[in-house]
Amino acid sequence: MEFRKYKKEKTSEIKDLFAKTFLDSEGETEGKLIGELAFELLTKTNSEDLFAYNALENDQIIASIIFTRLEFEKSKLKAFLLSPAAVLPEYQGRGIGKKLINFGHKDLKGKGMEIVFTYGDINFYSKVGYKKISEEIVKAPLKLSYPEGWLGQNLNDDEIPSISGTSHCVEALNDEKYW
Ligand SMILES: CC(C)(COP(=O)(O)OP(=O)(O)OC[C@H]1O[C@@H](n2cnc3c(N)ncnc32)[C@H](O)[C@@H]1OP(=O)(O)O)[C@@H](O)C(=O)NCCC(=O)NCCS
Repeated sequence: MEFRKYKKEKTSEIKDLFAKTFLDSEGETEGKLIGELAFELLTKTNSEDLFAYNALENDQIIASIIFTRLEFEKSKLKAFLLSPAAVLPEYQGRGIGKKLINFGHKDLKGKGMEIVFTYGDINFYSKVGYKKISEEIVKAPLKLSYPEGWLGQNLNDDEIPSISGTSHCVEALNDEKYW
């Protein structure tokens, strides 16, 4: 198995991976929605605002994660948001998700990025360093339907700094149906 940065020619394979994985875990509607989200993120985000990574086996993509930029009204902190993340059902539970996210974090840190956020299940994301954060510390870009899922980690330190003002995600994620 190897970990690689996203290449444009893999876009439709990645879309299919997200659709298949979320169809399996959450049903048809969610599968379609997350497949489309991945496609929009990869095709409509400026390259400097997008970092995506894949795990491959025999040249087939078996896991994928997408980070896009999160900007703050009053801070120049270099921040990215991890969403979505998926490991093909038949490869889940083997440590691949954890290794791929750690690979992504290392690359982002090496590029000078300072903080990462995600919106999901703390039971999984705590395994790769994320902690619950309050919106009094850092505001999410849209209204959260599940505030417990707002998570973050400082790539350089243990503490998540308090960031005043609003935050803004990339266009493809800027829809309340994802939050
Ligand atoms: C969630 C997901 C990305 C995890 O990837 P994975 O390769 O199966 O997970 P790993 O094998 O790397 O697991 C790492 C750790 O997290 C735990 N874990 C994995 N999935 C978990 C889950 N859904 N809930 C709680 N803990 C989980 C594992 O037990 C493991 O713990 P350990 O390090 O103490 O042994 C993958 O299962 C998946 O794609 N699920 C369906 C889609 C989804 O829910 N995506 C995430 C939300 S965007």
